[in-house]
Amino acid sequence: MLEEIKKPKRYTITSALPYANGPVHIGHLAGVYIPADIYARYLRSNNEDVLFIGGSDEHGVPITIKAKQEGVSPQQIVDKYHNIIKESFKDFGITFDVYSRTSAKIHHETASEFFTNLYEKGEFIEKVSAQYYDEENNQFLADRYITGTCPHCNNEKAYGDQCESCGTSLNATDLINPKSVLSGNEPILKETKHWFLQLDKYEPWLKKWILEDHKEWKANVYGQCKSWLDQGLQPRAVTRDLDWGVNVPLKGAEGKVLYVWFDAPIGYISASKEWAKETGKDWEVYWKDKESKLVHFIGKDNIVFHCIVFPSMLHAEGSYILPENVPANEFLNLESDKISTSRNWAVWLHEYLVDFPEKQDVLRYVLTANAPETKDNDFTWKDFQLKNNSELVAIFGNFVNRTMVLTQKYWNGKVPEISTLTDIDNAVIKDIAEFPSRIGKSIENYRFREALSELMNLARLGNKYLAENEPWKLIKTDEERVKTILNISIQIVANLAIECRPFLPFSSDKLFKMLNFNETEWKKSGKIDLIPAGSQLGEAFLLFEQIEDDAINLQIAKLLNTKKLNDEKTVEVASAKSNISFDEFAKMDIRIGKIITAEKVAKTKKLLKLTIDTGIDKRTVVSGIAEYYEPENIIGKRVSILVNLEPKEIKGIMSQGMILMAENSKGELCFVSPTNEFNEGSCVK
Ligand code: MF3
Ligand code: ZN
Repeated sequence: MLEEIKKPKRYTITSALPYANGPVHIGHLAGVYIPADIYARYLRSNNEDVLFIGGSDEHGVPITIKAKQEGVSPQQIVDKYHNIIKESFKDFGITFDVYSRTSAKIHHETASEFFTNLYEKGEFIEKVSAQYYDEENNQFLADRYITGTCPHCNNEKAYGDQCESCGTSLNATDLINPKSVLSGNEPILKETKHWFLQLDKYEPWLKKWILEDHKEWKANVYGQCKSWLDQGLQPRAVTRDLDWGVNVPLKGAEGKVLYVWFDAPIGYISASKEWAKETGKDWEVYWKDKESKLVHFIGKDNIVFHCIVFPSMLHAEGSYILPENVPANEFLNLESDKISTSRNWAVWLHEYLVDFPEKQDVLRYVLTANAPETKDNDFTWKDFQLKNNSELVAIFGNFVNRTMVLTQKYWNGKVPEISTLTDIDNAVIKDIAEFPSRIGKSIENYRFREALSELMNLARLGNKYLAENEPWKLIKTDEERVKTILNISIQIVANLAIECRPFLPFSSDKLFKMLNFNETEWKKSGKIDLIPAGSQLGEAFLLFEQIEDDAINLQIAKLLNTKKLNDEKTVEVASAKSNISFDEFAKMDIRIGKIITAEKVAKTKKLLKLTIDTGIDKRTVVSGIAEYYEPENIIGKRVSILVNLEPKEIKGIMSQGMILMAENSKGELCFVSPTNEFNEGSCVK
């Protein structure tokens, strides 16, 4: 028998703590913070007790690497980005009840205590293993600090945890020719002790808790968990040899810190404590009372940590509740490419607001409408423009504007009375009543795109109602009828003001102002008594404005420029060769020559047979440039040729000399030609 689902007493909503090693971008917003914020705002408008938690994840190796690169301390890095990130969230209206950080004292204490507690319960196993160590810097090397050759694809720049060329995940000891990133030396293997969480021990419990008791989780989340569990879990090290993080609170563990994925989720708890301290509230009920509902908003790369590792930690500790749901999203791409902080392939939130001031809701709208809820999705500037112009402006804004302007025009902004309701009105009123629960259900089930499209349907309903009744025509013949139509339209605008608030909070504020209205309770919506007849509306202004091609082209140009810079950067410069003497150099007889004939060498793709006038003679040279030059285009071209290279037979042709070519890392070739018109036979020295 199905148990009746009990309504939670309170909600503990967490959103993944972003790494403080860079600013936040649209991918973060779309995947995690907007859905979490919509959910929190919606619940609050239902008078639910909500604790919405955010904060910066300030530990981990990438932060230490960034600090080294910039020649500053890790603390300086996280201070900088914590502030930028926090500001961006505030600017976009993300309504955290607390935004904390993992370098805070309260977090170090909380994480440390959590570890000690599990340690004392005997939940860890200790293991000594050999890890790479840099003798020059006297430190163990995190996976990211070791590079070497990938055993699978021979990429020479693979990292200790992954080869980014073939995508294989690696162990540092798999690398051929391992090198320390710090010193460039070959690291030695040295024994070190670490503490492991026994995920294998929790596996049966996890299997029941997820695979049986949480079949309702999103397919992408459930599927990933199932695949992890089917493969079987191994103990996982929760400590690292590193000098940045929460110190391992054990004797003999000097120089060791908690693994970032052990301490970061505890950050949710530390943040709650910080919030409790500031507000005088009790944090514990949000984490320990069975009637609290814990929901983690995350991106798909965090699934294993929030569905398997952190719940195991909470379960092992024993006094905490477990997440009821983990509505993880897939990824958002940008113009068909993976968003990447290191390649600067992103729309940064702080930069967006410079280019599109006060257009937070436009981005919130587009990112919600395109949320990668069930699969990866793509953000394109063209689509951003389209959604703004043909949805926000043409549907939502247009309806609000027509209603406001007509009321202003006919009754100086005073809300007219309803006289008699026709069948058409009654049908519309019945429709209006259905939106709050329809939108609400979608939100409660983490289907935010669907919820937003329902909201737009309410605006569509309003537009249709005006278009079908044409009050601007009726005003000449039936003023009473127009009063009723406009009253109802105004009520629809008021409904929109309440119901759009979780999604488009800035526009909701504007609507409140225009309507002279201030009702945020969800359950008040769905009715047509929101604004009494006789009320004076405020001034009408445009809610959304058209975004022109110029603004969009500018953004596209910006991205193209990033692409160009990245392409230039990825051209790897071949390493330097050892010195030679001048005499050795002087042995080469290099001349300017002119190409007189050129033809493809039969049955080859790359070779051209050239006749070169070297000034000394006319000779045949075979050159591997057929992929870069068409024979007919190079006749008459002046090139550099090494004339005293030993002749060599290539495909049955005697090649006498070599044309000098410049080559980039992709192997693309071009002639090295004199910039001035020099005669054949001129020497290159
Ligand atoms: N910093 C991690 C990331 O960006 C997320 C950490 S979530 C937490 O992928 F639970 F660990 F805090
Ligand atoms: Zn590889």
